[in-house]
Amino acid sequence: MRLVDVWPLHGLRLTTADLELRPTTEAELPQLCTILPSDLETDPAATRYAGLDDRANHRAILAQSYWRAMGTWSTHDWVVPFAVRHDGELVGMQALEGPDWTSDRTVDSWSWLTTDSRGRGWGKQMRAAVLALAFGSLGARTAISSAVIDNVSSLGVSRSLGYRETHVSVLEHSGQTLRHVRLDRDAWQASGLADEIVVEGVDPATLALFGGAGDA
Ligand SMILES: CC(C)(COP(=O)(O)OP(=O)(O)OC[C@H]1O[C@@H](n2cnc3c(N)ncnc32)[C@H](O)[C@@H]1OP(=O)(O)O)[C@@H](O)C(=O)NCCC(=O)NCCS
Repeated sequence: MRLVDVWPLHGLRLTTADLELRPTTEAELPQLCTILPSDLETDPAATRYAGLDDRANHRAILAQSYWRAMGTWSTHDWVVPFAVRHDGELVGMQALEGPDWTSDRTVDSWSWLTTDSRGRGWGKQMRAAVLALAFGSLGARTAISSAVIDNVSSLGVSRSLGYRETHVSVLEHSGQTLRHVRLDRDAWQASGLADEIVVEGVDPATLALFGGAGDA
């Protein structure tokens, strides 16, 4: 039996002009930890181990986020952590999240690229890839995102894909201002950006993990 027969998510493949996105496997974790950039902001609520240095804690946070995504998956609340490759080499991750999927059909996302891979339009391509999956086969109604106001690259990706600002909030732990943005399905479809993405591997078994066919 193959991994994809056990967990149909692994049949998914998203292809953009320069990148290929596939759900991360455990075997990819060591390499992803090797290329993990040091400037990545980590969840302040994530467990940190006093005996580990910063770098080791970041690796543990990445690995635990992967295991948590797979281990606590439900049709109501899921996260697909995609591994992103260029010419076969791992260059980053792009996650798609449906934290309250059954009730609001809204997706959120997070991503990172190695420092060498930034500024080439790949951040935009990989976010567009997961939006094509979300607004297409999965039937999402809305995509949201947020970033601290000085994260111009993350907000740049959102802006370039047509997200509109909704509000700002203040992070309790750091006092930083967070900008929240939103993109609705009609705006996504009108943009024509889905035409640049190939989505493969969405079969009934895959859709079952998301609670069945979307209403797109
Ligand atoms: C966020 C990230 C994935 C974006 O990828 P990227 O390759 O740098 O971004 P792109 O080259 O695709 O740029 C997308 C858009 O943002 C704009 N942009 C990117 N970086 C920018 C910068 N530093 N200043 C101004 N605009 C910027 C680009 O001009 C582009 O807009 P355009 O299409 O209108 O020209 C990447 O920068 C990264 O890994 N950052 C560190 C991790 C992080 O902060 N992740 C986000 C929080 S989850």
